[in-house]
Amino acid sequence: MPLEIVIGTQWGDEGKGRVVDLLSARADIVARYNGGDNAGHTVTVGEKVFKLHLIPSGIIHPGTIGVIGNGVVVYPPTLFSEIEMLEQNGVEASPQRLRLSHAAHLITPAHRALDRAQEAARGAGQIGTTGRGIGPAYTDKAARRGIRLEEMLNPEAFHKRMLAHVEEANQWLVGVYQAEALDPQAVADEYAEYAEKMRPYITDTSLLLWQALQNGQTVLAEGAQGTLLDLDHGTYPFVTSSTPTAAGALVGLGLGPGTAARVIGVTKAFQTRVGAGPFPTEVSGEMATRLRGTGANPWDEYGTTTGRPRRVGWLDGVLLRYAVRVNNVTDLVVTKLDVLSGLPSILLCTGYRVNGNVLADLPLGPADLSPFEPVYEELPGWTADVRGARSWNDLPREAQHYLSRISELCGVPVCQVSVGPEREQVVDL
Ligand code: GDP
Ligand code: IMO
Ligand code: MG
Repeated sequence: MPLEIVIGTQWGDEGKGRVVDLLSARADIVARYNGGDNAGHTVTVGEKVFKLHLIPSGIIHPGTIGVIGNGVVVYPPTLFSEIEMLEQNGVEASPQRLRLSHAAHLITPAHRALDRAQEAARGAGQIGTTGRGIGPAYTDKAARRGIRLEEMLNPEAFHKRMLAHVEEANQWLVGVYQAEALDPQAVADEYAEYAEKMRPYITDTSLLLWQALQNGQTVLAEGAQGTLLDLDHGTYPFVTSSTPTAAGALVGLGLGPGTAARVIGVTKAFQTRVGAGPFPTEVSGEMATRLRGTGANPWDEYGTTTGRPRRVGWLDGVLLRYAVRVNNVTDLVVTKLDVLSGLPSILLCTGYRVNGNVLADLPLGPADLSPFEPVYEELPGWTADVRGARSWNDLPREAQHYLSRISELCGVPVCQVSVGPEREQVVDL
């Protein structure tokens, strides 16, 4: 059964939106399964640059249906601003084309206020969250007091729930964090309006996906964030509060393991991270500016959601091998190869040195990377502009060598190489 799962192998921003856009040309349904509007997925179509935070990027292809699965947390203002943005750009996002899971959880202004208050209270131990209320919304879900979209279908009970939710959050905001209280009535009234507008979009998306797969349709699961931000498998506690790894697609969409045919791991040709947490191959100074860009190009490394400059470094092969393992990645897509053009040489981390030994794998997962020193292989760079390459033979020998080493290190084939943000700037292998 053709469920294909697209995941990020790093700390997010690998170019998943771009890859989903390529793959969704032949998909019937594209479904987001985790996270919320902390994500920022960029798709470039000619003159147009779409930045999607919540709605799956695959909706841009006219032949697809977009699904927001039960694993996602939904902030209604973002949902409606994206629907409006899409429609203004000629992309239909009506309830016929966009379906929301009845079991997805809501993000409220109280979750956002708590996110900011909790970050402030962490002081020096800040995670650097996106401030979108993600952690508090998933906290409520796990504590079994979260608000599911299906509750919006019963207006009277929903209004009462919203009042009680904001009143309870206020106790934390004021009593624990010395933050400002929210107006429960105003929030409940605002959300009552959203409930009216969201009603036609809400359905059992697990059933919809199951039926589609039964009918031989192709479903593309669009992961947000990345493996190293996974709540269980990432660089805990510097992670997000959901499950971006491939198994999260099954839980977050309500499908069983036998449905998944391929796991497509998206990896940038170098490494980036926004927010705090370990980053063994991080570089600073001139090389950092070179990899990050200055912000002059739309693809330069500044956060799609928060605009923060991303931390940058060399590709970490140890963490990539780890991501391939925990996701059972079957195919690798390497993005942003073009950014490396012109570098005299490229460093690739092939192992971690600890106590005089070199390890190719992590003994205890990535939460504590402080004991390790990256071991680099220095590979020759290339000067040619690779943005025009469309086949393996168009790539400089040195770029071929770099890609082959990546594939060797993690044990899976590279199936596509992205050499620019435009739809046609891709090498299919
Ligand atoms: P996502 O969160 O994984 O979807 O990635 P983002 O959209 O946050 O960041 C990736 C950025 O790189 C976007 O601006 C993309 O348009 C851009 N991009 C994707 N692939 C390529 C590529 O091969 N080359 C270049 N130069 N930019 C790319
Ligand atoms: P996409 O889908 C990069 C990071 C935040 C922070 C940590 C926790 O575009 O790859 P959160 O707001 O989720 O509680 O923040 O996770 N983060 C991302 N970094 N890309 C993302 O999404 C991210 N979503 C969250 O910067 O370090
Ligand atoms: Mg992003």
